[in-house]
Amino acid sequence: MDLKVKIGNVDMPNPVGTASGTFGFGEEYGELFDLSKLGAIYTKALTPTPREGNSVPRLAETPSGILNSIGLANPGVEKFLSDKVPFLKGLQCSVILNVSGSTEQEYIEVIEKTDHLDCINGYEINISCPNVKHGGLAFGTDPKQVENLTKKLRRLSQKPLIVKLTPNVTDISVIAKAAESGGADSVSCINTVRGMLIDTKKKKSVIPAGIAGLSGPAIRPIGVAAVYTVSRAVSVPVIGLGGIMCADDAIQYLLAGASAIQVGTGLFVDPLLPLKVLDGIKEYMEENKMNKISDFHSFII
Ligand SMILES: Cc1cc2nc3c(=O)[nH]c(=O)nc-3n(C[C@H](O)[C@H](O)[C@H](O)COP(=O)(O)O)c2cc1C
Repeated sequence: MDLKVKIGNVDMPNPVGTASGTFGFGEEYGELFDLSKLGAIYTKALTPTPREGNSVPRLAETPSGILNSIGLANPGVEKFLSDKVPFLKGLQCSVILNVSGSTEQEYIEVIEKTDHLDCINGYEINISCPNVKHGGLAFGTDPKQVENLTKKLRRLSQKPLIVKLTPNVTDISVIAKAAESGGADSVSCINTVRGMLIDTKKKKSVIPAGIAGLSGPAIRPIGVAAVYTVSRAVSVPVIGLGGIMCADDAIQYLLAGASAIQVGTGLFVDPLLPLKVLDGIKEYMEENKMNKISDFHSFII
C-alpha cells in the first residue's frame, strides 16, 4: 500500500496532517507521540512581527464545535527563527509554514525571511486575514486579490504554495481557480466558518471580538462540500479539513476529492487522533482493496 502524497515538489509520507493553529509548532505534541508518523505539520500562523492576539476569552464552546478568535497570536519571524526552527530541524515529517498578514507585504516578508530554511518544506497561505489596505475585507473573499497575492508569493519560492481557502464566500470554486491561476500548487479547505455566540444575561458577545471562527464537527459537511466542489474546479491537489473527529470523517474528505487531510479541533479532544485517523485510513484501504490515495478518487459520488 502506497500512502505517499505529492503536493507540489514535496512528497509527504502519508495524507494526514495537523491543522494550523491547533498544533502550535509541534513541540508540545512531540512529547505525546512520534511526530515522524505524521504526513505533515501545518504550523501556527506566522507574521513578520510578534502578535499578542485578541483579548480573552478567545475560545467558546458551541453545539458540536468551538468558536475562536485568537487574532493570529504568534512569536513573529525573529523569535520563530531563534526559538522554533531548532526543533523543526529535527523533524522527519514535512513542515508547512502557515503564513499570515494584514498586507501583501507582510506575507512577502515572512516568505523572504524563511525560504532559505531546509526544515520548511512548503507554505500554507492563510488568506482569511483582513486586508487593512482594502477596508479590512479578507484577502480570500476577492478572486483578484487572491490571484495577485499568489502570483507575488509564487515568485519568491520554489517550495509548494498551498492557498488556504475561506468558506465565507458565495462560490469557493471561483477563489480556488484564482489561486490556481496565480500559481498555487495546492489549495486547502476549509478555514473556520463565521459564527457568533451571545451571552443573553450580559447581552454581549461571549468572545469580545464579536464574530469569530467556528470549527469542529459542526462544519464538517461544509468542508466536505467545499472539497467536492473545489476538487472538480481545479487540477491541483486539494487538502481537506474541517471537523475531522475520526477516520471515517477523513475518508469522507478523501472520497469527496481530497488528496490529503488535516486534523484540527479534534486534537483538543484526543491529541493522538491523527495516528488513529491514519490507521483507520489504512484499514479502509485494505478492506476496499485500494493501493494508493488516488484510488479514493475513482468513485463517482
Ligand atoms: C484555536 C484555533 C486556531 C487557529 N489558527 C489558525 C491559524 O493560525 N491559521 C490558519 O490558517 N487557520 C487557523 N485555524 C483554522 C484551522 O486550521 C482549521 O482550518 C479549522 O479549525 C477547521 O478545521 P477543524 O474543524 O478540524 O478545526 C485555527 C483554528 C482554531 C480552532
